[in-house]
Amino acid sequence: MAVTQEALYGELDGVDPSLSWSEAQLPERERTKHVHRLHPYLGKFVPQLVEALLERYVTPGGRVLDPFAGSGTTLVQALESGHDAVGVDIAAFNCLLMRVKTRPYNLDVLRRDLLWAHDEAAAFTPQGRTPAGTPAFVREWYAPEAVEELLHFRSLVEQVGSADVLRVVLARAARSARRTTHFDLDFPRSPQREPYWCHKHKRTCTPVASARRFLLRYTLDTLARIESFAAARSEQRIAEVVHGDAEDVGLPGVCDAVITSPPYPGLIDYHGQHRYAYALLGLDERRDRELGSPLHGTGRAAIAAYVEGVAGVLRRARAALRPGSPLCIVVNDRRELYPEVLRQAGLHLEERLERHVNRRTGRRAGEYFESILVTT
Ligand SMILES: C[S@@+](CC[C@H](N)C(=O)[O-])C[C@H]1O[C@@H](n2cnc3c(N)ncnc32)[C@H](O)[C@@H]1O
Repeated sequence: MAVTQEALYGELDGVDPSLSWSEAQLPERERTKHVHRLHPYLGKFVPQLVEALLERYVTPGGRVLDPFAGSGTTLVQALESGHDAVGVDIAAFNCLLMRVKTRPYNLDVLRRDLLWAHDEAAAFTPQGRTPAGTPAFVREWYAPEAVEELLHFRSLVEQVGSADVLRVVLARAARSARRTTHFDLDFPRSPQREPYWCHKHKRTCTPVASARRFLLRYTLDTLARIESFAAARSEQRIAEVVHGDAEDVGLPGVCDAVITSPPYPGLIDYHGQHRYAYALLGLDERRDRELGSPLHGTGRAAIAAYVEGVAGVLRRARAALRPGSPLCIVVNDRRELYPEVLRQAGLHLEERLERHVNRRTGRRAGEYFESILVTT
């Protein structure tokens, strides 16, 4: 019988129990509270880890920088804990998602716009024609009815002030409506057009034919999540989102701490996981500048470029901090690259914390740990 997570933590030397949570201690609804679940994103850290690091390492009201900000977990938690934040990311979709999560809203206007879009989508009837100019990716990955519904929703986006929020709803519905199997949602290889044996549900499942129910459900869910975050966040604090390469983009102002989790070589394609969003929204792709991308491989030259790239980003991040401020780097360094990254970045390791990662979802085997490198 597998050991319980509580028993496991009791046995593991060096694991910080206040930074490791079992499923019972931290159930999914807490990990995905309010805007953290606006859109799936593979490779984010749990909000409660950021919350704990903010409390330990950031002065009240301080400004936090995340140079690899991803889906914006650091920014959202900073606002919740009463800090300002700056987030940088190379992937345009991640920046869109972060802006939508963190900007302040006039909730009456947001509600009016989203309910209007909801009613328009509910009233739409597909005509049985794929519109001219439909991107090849959309033709290939969606059933004809879903193509029409998604493109109709896209036509609504520009008609309201809450356009970016509708873009995120559209992307989330597009993710769910792809012709894919239920067990391969993260990186499906080819469209699934026929019914298939589903390992996840242990029965025959049929690929999605329509996007309508997702568009309607996610429009309302997004409204509820933004409303719930508005009640939790500090109104006086702001988050700035910078789209660009953290190796050379300008960083606004002085910060008091870094909390970040860099990409790891060859693991996750951060542009690729949201391909449907780039295809539907026409976003600017900068895949060649994505550090650690599986597209670069994991050969010696790729690893050396990764180490140099991450070190360069951390060196710049440190230069943006008040002298002596901490940089908390969350990483599962199984290739043991970070001693060299820190050396090249000119960072001094003050403390190394270990945590157990509770990975309830995904088809992964074995226990998984990560380190928090606290440096100056
Ligand atoms: C591990 S993820 C961060 C996830 C984040 N902690 C969260 O909770 O959502 C690493 C991020 O680094 C971004 N990234 C990769 N290369 C970059 C670069 N050169 N400049 C800025 N961001 C980059 C990726 O797009 C990805 O979103």
